[in-house]
Amino acid sequence: MRNLWTDPTTLAITCGKGIVPFLKQELIELGYEILGSNDTMVGIRAQNACRDILRLNLSLRTAQRVLWPFVQDTRCRNLNDLYDLAYYAPWEQILNVDEAFFVNNVTKNDTVQDSRMPTLRLKDAIVDRMRAKCGRRPNVSGAVPVRVEAEGQILYSKPTPLRSALRVIRAVLEDWLNTLPEEQERAELLIEVDGYDLMSGSLYLPKLDLMVLKKRFERTFSARMAEGTPGAAVYLWWEGSHAKIYIDTSGNSLSRRGYRKEGWLAPMQEALAAACIMATGWDCQKPLVVPFSGSGTPAIEAAMMARRILPGMLRSDFAFMHLKGWTSIIPGEKAGVSARRRIGASPLDIWREMISQAKLEERAYDSPEVPMIIGVDWEEKAVEISERNANAAGVGHNVKFFVDDYSDAQLPMTPGVIFMNPPYGERLEDEAALEPLYDGVSDWLRNTVPQGWEAWMITSSKPLSLRIRLQTKQILEFKNGALDCRLLGYDIGKPLAEAAPEAETPVETAEA
Ligand SMILES: C[S@@+](CC[C@H](N)C(=O)[O-])C[C@H]1O[C@@H](n2cnc3c(N)ncnc32)[C@H](O)[C@@H]1O
Repeated sequence: MRNLWTDPTTLAITCGKGIVPFLKQELIELGYEILGSNDTMVGIRAQNACRDILRLNLSLRTAQRVLWPFVQDTRCRNLNDLYDLAYYAPWEQILNVDEAFFVNNVTKNDTVQDSRMPTLRLKDAIVDRMRAKCGRRPNVSGAVPVRVEAEGQILYSKPTPLRSALRVIRAVLEDWLNTLPEEQERAELLIEVDGYDLMSGSLYLPKLDLMVLKKRFERTFSARMAEGTPGAAVYLWWEGSHAKIYIDTSGNSLSRRGYRKEGWLAPMQEALAAACIMATGWDCQKPLVVPFSGSGTPAIEAAMMARRILPGMLRSDFAFMHLKGWTSIIPGEKAGVSARRRIGASPLDIWREMISQAKLEERAYDSPEVPMIIGVDWEEKAVEISERNANAAGVGHNVKFFVDDYSDAQLPMTPGVIFMNPPYGERLEDEAALEPLYDGVSDWLRNTVPQGWEAWMITSSKPLSLRIRLQTKQILEFKNGALDCRLLGYDIGKPLAEAAPEAETPVETAEA
C-alpha cells in the first residue's frame, strides 16, 4: 500500500468547465509536469507527495480539489461492485477512526437512478471496513445531535447531517401535530440542534410557526453550512463501468477562500473569477476596473494576485488535516525550528513553515508595485458587502469600490483592463429588458473609454453580447454555475459597422 504522505504519486486536480487551460498555466508556473487532462481535471506527477499536496492546496487559484488516487476498477458495473471495490481498500491506513469524513461523487452510470446512491453505498463500505478493522465506526461528517421532544416524550433524537436537520424536524413535528386532538391548544415543546435551543416552552399550537423555526435555524447555522463540513473527504468518479476512488485532500472546494461572508446577486465563484482575470491577460501592474462589481469577487481575486496572497491563506480547514499521518514525523523531512528537526518533520510542521514562508512573500498592502483596482456597482448594499469581503480577504486597502453607474466609473490616466460581469438576463432580469444596458455599455466602450484600454465581458447571452458594437479579439467559453457563458475580449478603437448586427469577429475558443 502506497503512503499518501511520502510515496511519489500522480495527483488529479479538478476545476470548472473552461478553466483547464488556466489551471494548467498555474501548474506549469509551479513547475509541475502535466500528464493529461479532460474538460474538468488535470493530472500531474508529484515527486514529494506531502509538500505537493500542501503546496497545491495552498496556491491554486483556479482549482476546486486536489485528489490522491486510491483505488479503481474498470469492471464496476453496479452499486454492489462499488461496495466491494471500496470495502476491500485499506481505508484504515488513510482515515482516522476518530475523525469524520464525507463523500462526493460524479457518476454517469446507467444502473444508478438516484445520484445520491453511490455516495451512500461508498459511505457504507468505508464504515463497514473501518468497523471491521478498528472495532468501531467513524463518524460520517456533518452529523449533529438533533432532539425533538413534545409533552416530555422524545419524538426524535439522533445525530443528523446539519443540512437535513431542518427538514427532519419539520417532518417530525408535522407527523406529531396530526396525531393531536383538534381541541388541544398548547403543548410543551423542545427543539434542540447541536445544543442550541431553537424553540422551547409551552407553545400555542395554532400559532406554531415553522417559518420562525426556519429563520432561527438559518440565523444560527447559516455560516456553518456555507463553510461546509470539516473532516476527511473521499471523491468518487464513476463513468460507465470505470470507477475511481480518490482521497480528496481539499474537502470543501478550494474556490471557497473564506472571505465571502455575505452573498449578493448571482455571485461568481472565486475560482472562475480568478480564471477570468487570468484570461484577460492582466499583468498585475496596470490598473484594473470592474464595473458591475456585485459582491466584489473579481476585484478581490485580482487584488490577491497583485499582492501575491495565496488563496489558501484565509482557510483554516482542509481535508488533508484530517488524514492519518498529519502529525506523524516523516524521516528525512525538515521544517521550521522544530526540535525534532534531526529526526524529520511532520506534514503539520511542513504546513506551518509553508504558511510562514508564503506570508513573507506577500507584497505589503501599500507596496507601490500593487496597482489601482476599482470596483463600481450602483447598489449601495453591493458596495458595502464588497468592502467587507475585501477587508476579510486582507485587500481592503487595494480595492476601491464606488457606488455609481458603470458609465460614471472614473478611469485612471494610465490605460489598463476593464472586466465586466453585467446581469445576463437569465437569472436576474429578462433578456429583452437588458438590451438598453448592453447598448449603453457598447456606447460607453466606443465613445468614452480611451484607446489603450482593454475591455472584457462575461455573459451567458449571445444576443445581448452582439449588441456590443466592437470587434472581438478573443472569445472563451466557461460555465458560471449552471450557465454556459462566454468571455469576450474587445478591441477598443475597432468599432463594428452599424449595419451588421449579427457580426462578431473572430470566433475562437482559445486555450490560454
Ligand atoms: C451579475 S452581478 C455581478 C456579480 C459579481 N461579479 C459577483 O461576483 O458578485 C451584476 C451587478 O451589476 C450591478 N448593476 C446592474 N446595472 C448596473 C449599472 N447600470 N451600473 C452599475 N452597476 C450595475 C448589479 O447591482 C449587480 O450587482
